[in-house]
Amino acid sequence: MKNREKTQKIFKNSCSAIPGGVNSPARAFKGLDMVPLIVDRGQGDQVFDVDGNAYIDYCCGFGSLPLGHAHPKIVDAATSQIKKGSSFGISTSIEQEIAEFIISKVPSVEKLRFTSSGTEATMTAIRLARGFTKRPLIIKFNGNYHGHADPFLVKSGSSVIDFNQESASSGVLVDAVKNTISLPFNNPHLIEKIMRDPFYAHLIAAVIVEPIAGNMGLIPANSAFLKTLREETERNGSLLIFDEVITGFRVGLGGAQGIYNIQPDLTCFGKIIGGGFPAAAVGGLAEIMDKLAPLGDVYQAGTLSGNPVAMRAGLATLKEVAKKGFYNDLKEKTDIITKPVQKALDGKNAVLCQVGSMFSIFWGVNDVTCFEDLELLDTLTFKTFFKTLFDQGIYLSPSPYETSFVSSVHTKEHLEFTRDAILHFIDLHFQREKTLVKSACEAY
Ligand SMILES: Cc1ncc(COP(=O)(O)O)c(C=O)c1O
Repeated sequence: MKNREKTQKIFKNSCSAIPGGVNSPARAFKGLDMVPLIVDRGQGDQVFDVDGNAYIDYCCGFGSLPLGHAHPKIVDAATSQIKKGSSFGISTSIEQEIAEFIISKVPSVEKLRFTSSGTEATMTAIRLARGFTKRPLIIKFNGNYHGHADPFLVKSGSSVIDFNQESASSGVLVDAVKNTISLPFNNPHLIEKIMRDPFYAHLIAAVIVEPIAGNMGLIPANSAFLKTLREETERNGSLLIFDEVITGFRVGLGGAQGIYNIQPDLTCFGKIIGGGFPAAAVGGLAEIMDKLAPLGDVYQAGTLSGNPVAMRAGLATLKEVAKKGFYNDLKEKTDIITKPVQKALDGKNAVLCQVGSMFSIFWGVNDVTCFEDLELLDTLTFKTFFKTLFDQGIYLSPSPYETSFVSSVHTKEHLEFTRDAILHFIDLHFQREKTLVKSACEAY
């Protein structure tokens, strides 16, 4: 067991000063019955806690860090900007540079507006959709997470899963969610039905979706589902919004939309485009984007939007991931863990899902296509699994509903060490289950 004395003390004190001791619920390791990680520093593929313990990091800032921690190019980009001034509340040329870069890589994006968080980006996207279409309703999908703005807190993924699934937060007025319809993910028939319903059809402003869902564990959409979303929204004049806050520049340069070859009307970016600093964006067709103030009548603003330090770090990150072979290498690294684990889980009651450098293991279920399939998810085994790996210096994303990530600086040695730790856990876990079943049968 690691010595975590300082961690415990700091967390205890944090709980007196900060609600739950954290500034975002997932950081509290809720449901894991353990004191969360308090990080002192990160370097490459590792984080070091305040007690000096090292952990191979597969959370990677919940997907924000494809280049790992303190990458020299990002450190240089950010520090050179800080020396010139870190915030002006006025435009800098770097905003135009990064906007043009993103536009050049993502064909559906003609114009972009930067925000400071993914929540602001998705919030802006639906305001834009409502302003553009002059319609009220938003369709989302159960277990998808679009940040913590009121209209999205209905059957949401991520840490919201711990809350009542209908109206996911106290303080959210019924009025704020009455125009949100949440449907099962990956069900093209239901969406077709509602989009063609004479009552609903002309009230639907937008359909927002995580095309590769990463907030109920990793569950990719099937192509038929996304294709139906595109066709049906086009047919009745609603907008299709892809929330690529996680998948943008993570699964490929063109994001999930590049993989599925589907062009949404609006796309939300976050995480990676800030290179570890707070930045996000909403982008899409110029005709829609130009509805934003000051050109149009849809209001959106932010003192720190397009912050030059975040923009410099973001652009430096994007230039690295755009290098030839980056995503192939990232997948090959991830495969070191995932391929043998997938094989070890074959025929067992657990499954590993992977898209590129994103992966998650679902315990207790083996066919996962939507949030409803997670009803029998074995969260107790996840807890033991997480802790077992944590004690060995391996830090996976700290919830059965979060996705883990590999970065370009994960070393072969660390990946193989992680693979072996997971394989060992699988052996022990299923051996123990077999013994339990055998003794239960004997007792019967
Ligand atoms: C798909 C998705 N959309 C939106 C958000 C909200 O982003 P932020 O936490 O930056 O507000 C997240 C956060 O994890 C996310 O995963």
